[in-house]
Amino acid sequence: MSQQPQLRTVVVLAAGEGKRMKSALPKVLHPLLGRTLVGHVLSAAEPLAADRTVVVVGHGADQVRAHLAEIAPQATPVLQAEQLGTGHAVRIALDAVPEISGTVVVINGDVPLLRPETVGAFVEAHERGAAAATVLAAEVPDPTGLGRVLRDVDGRLQQIVEQRDATPAQREIREINAGIYAFDAVRLRAALGKLSTDNDQGEEYLTDVFGLLGSAGEPVAVHVAADHVETLGCNDRVELAALRRLLRDRVNEAWMRTGVSLLDPDTTWIDVTVALDRDVVVDQNTQLRGSTVVGAGALVGPDVTLVDTVVGPDASVVRSHAVGAEVGTGASVGPYAYLRPAARLAEKAKVGTFVEVKNSEIGTGSKVPHLTYVGDATIGEQSNIGAATVFVNYDGVNKHRTVIGSHARTGADNMFVAPVAVGDGAYTAAGSVIDHDVPAGALGVGRARQRNIEGWVVKRRSGTAAAEAAERARRAAEGVAASGSVESEGDALHGDAKPVSHAVGTGDTATE
Ligand code: UD1
Ligand code: CA
Repeated sequence: MSQQPQLRTVVVLAAGEGKRMKSALPKVLHPLLGRTLVGHVLSAAEPLAADRTVVVVGHGADQVRAHLAEIAPQATPVLQAEQLGTGHAVRIALDAVPEISGTVVVINGDVPLLRPETVGAFVEAHERGAAAATVLAAEVPDPTGLGRVLRDVDGRLQQIVEQRDATPAQREIREINAGIYAFDAVRLRAALGKLSTDNDQGEEYLTDVFGLLGSAGEPVAVHVAADHVETLGCNDRVELAALRRLLRDRVNEAWMRTGVSLLDPDTTWIDVTVALDRDVVVDQNTQLRGSTVVGAGALVGPDVTLVDTVVGPDASVVRSHAVGAEVGTGASVGPYAYLRPAARLAEKAKVGTFVEVKNSEIGTGSKVPHLTYVGDATIGEQSNIGAATVFVNYDGVNKHRTVIGSHARTGADNMFVAPVAVGDGAYTAAGSVIDHDVPAGALGVGRARQRNIEGWVVKRRSGTAAAEAAERARRAAEGVAASGSVESEGDALHGDAKPVSHAVGTGDTATE
């Protein structure tokens, strides 16, 4: 940046309760697509490169302070114990930073749609014009509840009057105070000392500074925002929802312009903190939140929520929910998968339908296709986990890990009772409870031997349809036996169990 002529101090007003939110949470901490209201305001002020940032806190001060420590540790919180008005709030803020000159920029904590470019241009205009005070104004369709900008016949700012103190004629004015101001520090401080509480709310109004300075012959200016939407405040949850839709549209448009396809922008909600690469396709009804990153050419949606999740290039995530997960290049997730924190899928891995994964690595090309819980596991490369498997990671007190090697084929309906390991190239039989390690290349079988009690149904359930069917089958078999047997030798994957059917132990899941 070019050299800055002025010291800059930013003051964010965030002490109000926000009564109309009807919330236990202070208003400025309500979230809006990835940042709190105050977070949005602080980030809009970032390009000012302020020498000092003060945030006035009051209602829920501890909560707001804790939040600031996280998102803006460089900002100084200053307590306004009693909310005696916006003027009072700025006075307290300046008392906390006694030696200031230059520009003081004040921003209400509840105008989250302000763009950084708008704030930057506004402050530069103020500094160029050498005004004592400049207010950002906007022409709005419905000015109800807002402070009106009163100008004289020459269009010069006279004063700002609040709705509740305004005459019926003044209420007709649609040019409003947006709640962001730039001041010359010295003249602001002097004027703050002269504020009265002679108004409908009995508060010290920051806006009165303009009338005071103006009538003392100091130059005061109005800067009109090109887009009034940026100046919309948030006083209740209906307004918050409206702001959320406006911000969604802004974010979505920006992504589409950088080469991302949004198939249904109206049902796509992308936090301002998310990053998307080129040719990402986002299908309908999808929420991308927090620090989520999606790589080039990946397909996300429909019906997907990703929170703090990294999706690699060319991966696909369909009808699924992921929190703190990593999906590798070309990997596939869903439909109906749940990826929990530290679920890590390597390149071309697959997590299929009704599969939950937590704190586990699934290696390159490995597949967990159906109905499975993978918790605290490491799965090598090119392995296949049979349907309906549970990685039994919890003994009621501690969590334990399961390690599956590479090129393993585990059978359907397995329980891996951790800690346990299955070696490279090993198989396990369907229906096994695997609570001992299976060496590389071995077949692990851990299930009860089946026994058949011949003729049981005919004896114990005679007269039922089942018994009649059994009789018919017996007679048909006798007919076949008379003309030669076709019985199978079974399949090696049945292990030491006696072959009773022709299904392969690892199930059909070895294929896809
Ligand atoms: C204020 C302006 C109004 C403007 C509107 C824009 C005043 C007197 N009025 O009205 O002209 O059109 O914003 O949105 O300034 N706050 C404190 N301490 C206090 C009082 C308020 O920190 O003692 C904070 C609030 O948390 C909020 C901001 O200041 O973030 C504005 O206060 P609010 O009560 O919302 O003012 P408005 O009535 O909206
Ligand atoms: Ca307000």
